[in-house]
Amino acid sequence: MMGYGSGVSKKQVLIAGISGAIGHALAVRLLEHDPGVSIVGLCRNPSAVTFSEEHAGRILLIPWDAAESSSTRTVVEKLKALVPVEAGLDTVIYAAGILHGPGMKPEKRLEDLDARAFAHAFAVNATGFAMLVQAVSPWLRHRRFKRIVAVSAKVGSIGDNGFGGWYAYRSSKAALNMLVRNLSIELPRKYRPVACVAVHPGTTLSPLSRPFTRSLAKLNVHEPGETAGNILKVAEGLTEDDNGAFLGWDGSAIPW
Ligand SMILES: NC(=O)c1ccc[n+]([C@@H]2O[C@H](COP(=O)([O-])OP(=O)(O)OC[C@H]3O[C@@H](n4cnc5c(N)ncnc54)[C@H](OP(=O)(O)O)[C@@H]3O)[C@@H](O)[C@H]2O)c1
Repeated sequence: MMGYGSGVSKKQVLIAGISGAIGHALAVRLLEHDPGVSIVGLCRNPSAVTFSEEHAGRILLIPWDAAESSSTRTVVEKLKALVPVEAGLDTVIYAAGILHGPGMKPEKRLEDLDARAFAHAFAVNATGFAMLVQAVSPWLRHRRFKRIVAVSAKVGSIGDNGFGGWYAYRSSKAALNMLVRNLSIELPRKYRPVACVAVHPGTTLSPLSRPFTRSLAKLNVHEPGETAGNILKVAEGLTEDDNGAFLGWDGSAIPW
């Protein structure tokens, strides 16, 4: 793997969850639309993630597991070797998340709650974001405008919750939203100019949503590429005034 060395790129973006449908589509779209962008991608198994030959030279992948507390240390070590701290990161997108997996499925009722599944959902959907921002904070000290985008979910809105269920996912996304809000208060003190926001990507075809395709049929479901375009449009339009907002894929405000 090559570092960026002296050829410092115009925009340095870090995407956590680059192996996911949305994370990967975000990377592809950025690379296609902006020749000045270089990307560092984080995921559990970098060897499983591929990009076209044309784009591969502008992507660096680092192994990272949001549920492993030591993992961010490895990210820092590898990131230091690849992107000089002085070069900084312009955008950090947290696109990792979990709704179901081994021993874990969205709960329909109180009886379905499982402490281990709950803890795992919080580790990946919420804690991982905060620990990652902490880890990369030295790369945020530069003077350019910084965007920190947490891919959240509308079901994490407390005000909008009229259906119940999905206890671990909903509450871990609500926790993610609170972390965004907290960071939006602290980050400007050291890293101004900055906007730290939560964004609902819209329902998107992905391994995360796949088990729910029957209920998805009633919803407006987006392809990952479309979602990536929507998220990047929101991210591109951010200013310092948006710091601490919870936004939909169309840029509208979502109630906390
Ligand atoms: N799809 C939707 O309709 C929808 C709606 C609202 C919000 N979202 C949110 O959008 C984000 C992206 O979801 P998606 O639809 O793209 O789902 P996806 O294709 O299943 O991607 C999930 C991503 O999370 C990563 N991840 C899971 N567990 C991890 C762990 N322990 N450590 C590090 N990374 C881990 C996955 O990496 P691995 O390859 O290592 O598993 C993958 O990169 C999530 O935060 C999700 O909650 C999605």
